[in-house]
Amino acid sequence: MKAKKLTGEKAAEYIEDGMVIGLGTGSTAYYAIKKVGEMVRNGLKVKAVPTSKETAELAAAEGIELVELANVEALDLTIDGADEVDPDFNLIKGGGGALLREKIVASATDKLIIVVDESKMVENLGAFPLPVEVTPFSWQYTQRMIEKFSCSSEIRKEDGEIFVTDNDNYILDCNFGKIEDPVKIAVELNKLPGVVENGIFAEMAEIVVVGYNDGHVEVLEK
Ligand code: A5P
Repeated sequence: MKAKKLTGEKAAEYIEDGMVIGLGTGSTAYYAIKKVGEMVRNGLKVKAVPTSKETAELAAAEGIELVELANVEALDLTIDGADEVDPDFNLIKGGGGALLREKIVASATDKLIIVVDESKMVENLGAFPLPVEVTPFSWQYTQRMIEKFSCSSEIRKEDGEIFVTDNDNYILDCNFGKIEDPVKIAVELNKLPGVVENGIFAEMAEIVVVGYNDGHVEVLEK
């Protein structure tokens, strides 16, 4: 909790007046959004693109002006969480189910700042099951195709029902074990019919802000 708050608030320091920013999703991005809200109430002028309905609601409640991606050329920076970060800043995201919008917003962003607590820093991606967003129409077929990559997978459920994303899709949580080549897996997965997007964010993050439980924060730059 403390580490997440520290890292979220530290990342907000990168925001400057007049910027268009992306706001991530999850319990760590939450603290960055709360901080941006405070900065806005103190006079900061920013426009923000949210990466989920949940974030849109939080940001609006904080008084942050929201804009649609359609109406902005590019974003100056985005602050978002991650489920795993490797030493090359490759990420697994999507634990909260918002990976599709998060990846689109990240790709439209000049500077992607990732906020994590120390538990998310790993040597290799893959211990956290990789979320893959798939179309409901063909999810069992797509699941069989994905499992040819030597992984097992489970359809994500919430309260006993299949979890539905903000984009009306489903998520398969795919257990690869150790992912040796994240770039390759990310490309191969997206070639499969029915895969909408996968949670590997390769070579996208520029800054990783790591919060530690002892109260210090480390800023890692590419
Ligand atoms: C949302 O879909 C995810 O990509 C989150 O950014 C990720 O799961 C990190 O969330 P926490 O900060 O809550 O761990």
